[in-house]
Amino acid sequence: MTTKERVHPAVVGRTVSIVGIGSYLPERILTNADLEKMVNTTDEWIITRTGIKERHIAAPDQASSDLGAEAARRALADAGISPEAVDMIVLGTITPDMGFPNTACFVQAKIGAKNAFCFDIEAACSGFLYGLEIGRQFISTGSMETVLVIAAEKISSILDWEDRNTCVLFGDAAGAVVLQARGAAHGVMASTLGSDGTLAELLMLPGGGSRSPTTEETVRNRLHYMKMAGREVFKHAVTNMTRAAKDALQRSGLGIEDIRWIIPHQANLRIIEAIGERLGVTKEKLVINLERCGNTSAATIVVALDELAREGKLQKHDKILMVAFGGGFTWGASVVEWDK
Ligand SMILES: CC(C)(COP(=O)(O)OP(=O)(O)OC[C@H]1O[C@@H](n2cnc3c(N)ncnc32)[C@H](O)[C@@H]1OP(=O)(O)O)[C@@H](O)C(=O)NCCC(=O)NCCS
Repeated sequence: MTTKERVHPAVVGRTVSIVGIGSYLPERILTNADLEKMVNTTDEWIITRTGIKERHIAAPDQASSDLGAEAARRALADAGISPEAVDMIVLGTITPDMGFPNTACFVQAKIGAKNAFCFDIEAACSGFLYGLEIGRQFISTGSMETVLVIAAEKISSILDWEDRNTCVLFGDAAGAVVLQARGAAHGVMASTLGSDGTLAELLMLPGGGSRSPTTEETVRNRLHYMKMAGREVFKHAVTNMTRAAKDALQRSGLGIEDIRWIIPHQANLRIIEAIGERLGVTKEKLVINLERCGNTSAATIVVALDELAREGKLQKHDKILMVAFGGGFTWGASVVEWDK
């Protein structure tokens, strides 16, 4: 059976396509050499253990909504759609502008999407794929026509810049897609999402919530910064992303040979290579930009997808497998047929 003949079993209702995409990386670049001056680390350690060479860091006056709004403007321009046409904004972030209102509302105000209803999802590094599937559902049922899915992260604002275990790994970025129903094309073909809350303590930001409201003591104990058990997270990331990727593929009715590009969450080059090996794909199918961006949490996948599009590497009907893993734990994978 050829790819075209395969019937997609997971989608009911209208098919939903990415009709516009955009991303934004803050101007300032922080290199490994810069980090050598800040914590006890070396360029060599960071490159060999993670693959990261540099990352972008937002300006002090830029919040996640500023990054997200810029990505959203670019995605809307790419789609040729006005902000007023957006029915819903769903934004994935672990670095909201503030406790509330939600960051999607701030983006709405900045871009003038006055007819949208707006909410955030907190699924850490899986935020974009969670948002993509949520957006797909609303359009698929006919409830909405145009959805903006944004991932926006100012991770630098929750990093402990004295903790070499975490501060060398992350960066700031935002990406956005516009979703609409588009007739016969497959668009977002299949998704799988999962979570395991029993392992929450391996990756968290413990302070500042209702469990430990901010006090002088929580600040003194640096509980307002991200904590991660890197080695443990590594193992779970490989296992769960591999499983999610296989599950989404199965749901899509495609085989791995049908996939043109795999965009894994960009946390560590060794994680990406391990997933590639387990899926049995050649390195040229793996999309990797973490050497320039580091781990930008929810934003990694959509930024990489946008770069791929801008570099002219996406052909109409290319099948793309995206797979993510993050705090929660949360994970997800989606198979998308490129439709632009
Ligand atoms: C964090 C990570 C890069 C660490 O790599 P690792 O190979 O697992 O390294 P280990 O944790 O075994 O630590 C090795 C040593 O390097 C040290 N080290 C940690 N960070 C360092 C740094 N920036 N520079 C130099 N040494 C460092 C550790 O202290 C440790 O020293 P020790 O053996 O004396 O205790 C890796 O575990 C990882 O990428 N984990 C997953 C991260 C992830 O995916 N997070 C987000 C999910 S969304």
